[in-house]
Amino acid sequence: MSTIQWYPGHMAKAKKQVQEKLHLVDIVLEIVDARLPLSSRNPILDQIIQQKPRLMILNKADLADAALNAAWIAYFKQHDLPAISIDSQHNHNVQQIEKQAQVILADKIARQHEKGIKNKPIRAICIGIPNVGKSTILNRLVKRNVAITGNHPGVTKKQQWLKAGKSLELLDTPGILWPKFEDPLVGKKLALTGAIKDSLYHADDAALYALAFFKQYFPERLQKRYHLTEQDLTLTDSDLLLKLTTNFGLRADYERASERIILDCRKGKLGRYTLDQVSEVVTHD
Ligand code: G4P
Repeated sequence: MSTIQWYPGHMAKAKKQVQEKLHLVDIVLEIVDARLPLSSRNPILDQIIQQKPRLMILNKADLADAALNAAWIAYFKQHDLPAISIDSQHNHNVQQIEKQAQVILADKIARQHEKGIKNKPIRAICIGIPNVGKSTILNRLVKRNVAITGNHPGVTKKQQWLKAGKSLELLDTPGILWPKFEDPLVGKKLALTGAIKDSLYHADDAALYALAFFKQYFPERLQKRYHLTEQDLTLTDSDLLLKLTTNFGLRADYERASERIILDCRKGKLGRYTLDQVSEVVTHD
């Protein structure tokens, strides 16, 4: 997991770096975690990207709820943001990135053809908060392992273009933005999925949030994974955490029990899930 600690100075630098890189590209690949299509975005990107074409990429789709992947893609499309879901770890759908970039830039490419400019590569950059899979996607697209040096706000290095398909070139250093810390609920979601450093949150907060979420949406998964009874599921979240701590044989070590629950959620041991509910945003809209 990323080791970046975000201070106001880092944020300003990261913003400036992303701004500078935007001038170099035809399209931005905005990478989010499919389990958190909204909470893993950084709204600052909307401000700085302006009219630059963009493709939303819901990565880690293998860990997210399949129906909600489709619902989120539809939601973004309704908001004029073309979106796709991919699983870059297992190389599923990654080739769609180049195809979609061609579709989004079709008018520009047609204008270039009219002027006799042919085979000009589409230049792109991956941008997103830490741990959403920017480096994995980059490596998949360029079909080799690129050592991503300088992948840190404030560290500058010479930019290089990497061939990432017949018509696509990628900037070798992804743009990194900071996660949103202000809303405690967003913080818990980011913690649970591993998007923020373990030292930045209390494990029991994230674990209690996980228990509440699974009790509400997938109680049967909790029951199965942790051998719970129907009665156990009626306990309050804190009492359930106490019960699990005992069941794990950890006496009163809630911290370790919480860490175990968090790890299970991160590794998909409780099945696929999406923490951001599209229905809530649609109602809000
Ligand atoms: P970043 O550059 O945006 O910071 O993310 P990076 O590619 O390093 O990926 C972060 C973690 O997410 C890695 O796990 C990576 O294997 C995993 N990952 C990336 N894409 C996918 C995907 O589509 N599906 C799944 N299931 N996992 C994906 P890691 O090396 O184990 O790191 P960590 O979890 O220990 O931080």
